[in-house]
Amino acid sequence: MRRRLEMKKFGPVIGGGGLVTAALTSLHPQPRPPSFPVMTTRAWAALKKGGSLEPYEFASGDLKSDQVEIAVEYCGICHSDLSMLENAWGNAVYPLVAGHEVVGRVIATGPEVPASLKIGARVGLGWFSESCMACALCLHGDHNLCQTAEQTIVSRHGGFAERVRSHWAWATPLPEGLDPAKAGPLFCGGITVFNPIVQFGVKPTDRVGVIGLGGLGHLALQFLDKWGCEVTAFSSRPDKSDELRSLGADTVVNSRDSAELAKVAGKFDFILSTVNVPLDWNSYINALAPRGRLHTVGAVLEPIPVPAFSLIMAQRSLSGSPLGSPATTRDMVEFCARHTIAPVTEFFPMSKVNDALEHLRAGKARYRIVLKADF
Ligand SMILES: NC(=O)c1ccc[n+]([C@@H]2O[C@H](COP(=O)([O-])OP(=O)(O)OC[C@H]3O[C@@H](n4cnc5c(N)ncnc54)[C@H](OP(=O)(O)O)[C@@H]3O)[C@@H](O)[C@H]2O)c1
Ligand SMILES: [Zn+2]
Ligand SMILES: [Zn+2]
Repeated sequence: MRRRLEMKKFGPVIGGGGLVTAALTSLHPQPRPPSFPVMTTRAWAALKKGGSLEPYEFASGDLKSDQVEIAVEYCGICHSDLSMLENAWGNAVYPLVAGHEVVGRVIATGPEVPASLKIGARVGLGWFSESCMACALCLHGDHNLCQTAEQTIVSRHGGFAERVRSHWAWATPLPEGLDPAKAGPLFCGGITVFNPIVQFGVKPTDRVGVIGLGGLGHLALQFLDKWGCEVTAFSSRPDKSDELRSLGADTVVNSRDSAELAKVAGKFDFILSTVNVPLDWNSYINALAPRGRLHTVGAVLEPIPVPAFSLIMAQRSLSGSPLGSPATTRDMVEFCARHTIAPVTEFFPMSKVNDALEHLRAGKARYRIVLKADF
């Protein structure tokens, strides 16, 4: 059974060993085996729904035998971090340490971690940090569909911290050629939009569209362009058009303009939506070619209305998916290295995480914010 983390708020500044040692003594009076040293972890946490993030310290407990401990170097900020901090999905547990686009180095491994994952290896960690490895989905390689998978920032602490843990399988080694400072957003934003391209067999000859060109969307654009597709960007911000073309868009269409959407009726084999707001969904379904698919990864809370006949007569589909498996994540980072695909990033020191969150909330991020750990 998962051991509940004990937590303790730390003072405004952690001055070194004094406070940490005091916390260790009070939280863990029992002697520990030397292979699993007791540690506390410094982090940035929201103490309540919508609260600004504050310095926080928690006792890490024992490293599980199949876990790795990662020293966080960088962590991207995904829109899902905002949704969790605001408890928009009703599953937030406070104090909440968000952050699930981690890049860092492995600093400890449990005894069941394969020898190939060595101390010092640079890895990435995303939304999932563990899956059962025993259910049919895990055994089929669909670990991201495991119904008991652990989520990095749900009921446990994520990457806005100096260290974070995961099952070894969810710590993806970074290939040579990827800039570690920029790679973090690949491990949630990137894999979430790469996976459906693989799952649904998108072809290089396909005409495809991406709705919403933020953290996820600007990566989808690059993937689909390098995949060989003809790519349309559906954006609500015409001022982004030139940049979107430079990232791989062949055409840019206003995502909120029904008249413009009517002009592309029947065109697309695949449309990927990354928005979390209601749009004129009927126009997007009508924009699909026969056998076309509208796939949402954007966590829009309002229902998407679908008239059955707009699906039936042209054999169209509507679907959704969460991230991707560890194997598909490895394929994605290799694809990025081969095609020089990288997130377009803005950097903030982690100590300025509240400014960074505000920047994202205001819709100003171009296109993904990455925090650099500075504990
Ligand atoms: N399925 C999964 O497993 C998974 C994984 C990660 C994230 N997500 C979800 O995916 C969504 C996107 O995440 P993100 O990090 O990419 O967010 P983001 O960086 O904030 O980008 C979202 C984009 O949506 C568009 N948008 C926002 N408000 C809009 C409005 N009122 N009207 C029209 N377009 C609007 C904007 O694109 P334009 O400026 O181009 O219009 C914006 O850049 C979130 O809901 C997140 O929770 C899901
Ligand atoms: Zn995410
Ligand atoms: Zn499973």
